[in-house]
Amino acid sequence: MTDTDDLGALRVELLEKVAAASDEAALEQLRVETLGKKGVITLRMASLGQVAPEKRREVGQANNELKNAVAEAIAARQVDLGRAARAARLAAERIDVSLPVRPEAEGHIHPISQTIEELIQIFAEMGFTVAEGPEIESDFNNFTALNIPPEHPARQMHDTFYLPPAADGSARVLRTHTSPVQVRTMLNQKPPIRIIAPGRTYRSDYDMTHTPMFHQVEGLVIDEATHMGHLRGCLTEFLRAFFKIDDLPLRFRPSFFPFTEPSAEVDIGCSRKGGQLKLGNHGDWLEILGCGMVHPKVLEMCGIDSTRYQGFAFGMGIERIAMLKYGIPDLRTFFDADLRWIKHYGFSFLDQPSLGLGLNR
Ligand code: DAH
Repeated sequence: MTDTDDLGALRVELLEKVAAASDEAALEQLRVETLGKKGVITLRMASLGQVAPEKRREVGQANNELKNAVAEAIAARQVDLGRAARAARLAAERIDVSLPVRPEAEGHIHPISQTIEELIQIFAEMGFTVAEGPEIESDFNNFTALNIPPEHPARQMHDTFYLPPAADGSARVLRTHTSPVQVRTMLNQKPPIRIIAPGRTYRSDYDMTHTPMFHQVEGLVIDEATHMGHLRGCLTEFLRAFFKIDDLPLRFRPSFFPFTEPSAEVDIGCSRKGGQLKLGNHGDWLEILGCGMVHPKVLEMCGIDSTRYQGFAFGMGIERIAMLKYGIPDLRTFFDADLRWIKHYGFSFLDQPSLGLGLNR
């Protein structure tokens, strides 16, 4: 194999093999066998010393040409194989993005979950964070720290589910509102505070407009110079963004809650013409939430200096605002677990609430 005689045949053989390599692995194998450390061509070039001196130049040149030809053929074949592999993969992984979502994608987002997502978005844009508390709550957090001492008549109004006392003997309840999250937050965080607390609440009551489990969202803002004007602005911004009604009027009516002073109930504008409830600036009013300035006693019970800090709080029913926004007539149907209901009122999992953008109008 030191002569040029057999080179022609070798060349034909190797180029045929390159052309026949069916995939990139086979081609690599061939490269090792020809141009690798112990490849045929490499060995030929290494043994040039054994060729008769007068023929070395010619044989050397021929070897070089063979090497270049095979290397080129391998490189070209590699490009072809790569292209073919890519084309095969593209064909195999082809997705028609214009096809409708698979019919078996049947799950729906419950209107309560959707509504909570929406209100979190709106309040998040106003700088609020989400706080949480347990559904099994101490009597102290649910009532006493909120200025509802034992024997206070407000306790009767809450139709409380009482639980056996905790290990240390302290009374426990299923929380009757999300307001105890205010207490927990103030005990654990220093002002300024800006939180909302959506979650489940419980009262022993069941009729057209009450279910033993329902949802509320609480809001709490504590800072040094917070006043009713901030409360009004915050709730106006929220309610207009949530209901997507730019000129939705709000009316603050004096009211009473033990944990706020002054307290107010907020009504939003509506019309009831022809028995149809419609939100907007139509002259009639609909009660929507309770709110007020946090009572100094509550601040003090939660370890906050009421001579330096003040703030506002509000609480509203999530089912109620969901019913109003999405035209759901009966509260109890929220928890019937009826598939036809969820198909009708539920949301596609692809529906992302985009209400936050409403604030930039
Ligand atoms: N916790 C009250 C309820 O369940 C609602 C409420 C009213 C919450 C006024 C507040 C508030 O934070 O300031 O009826």
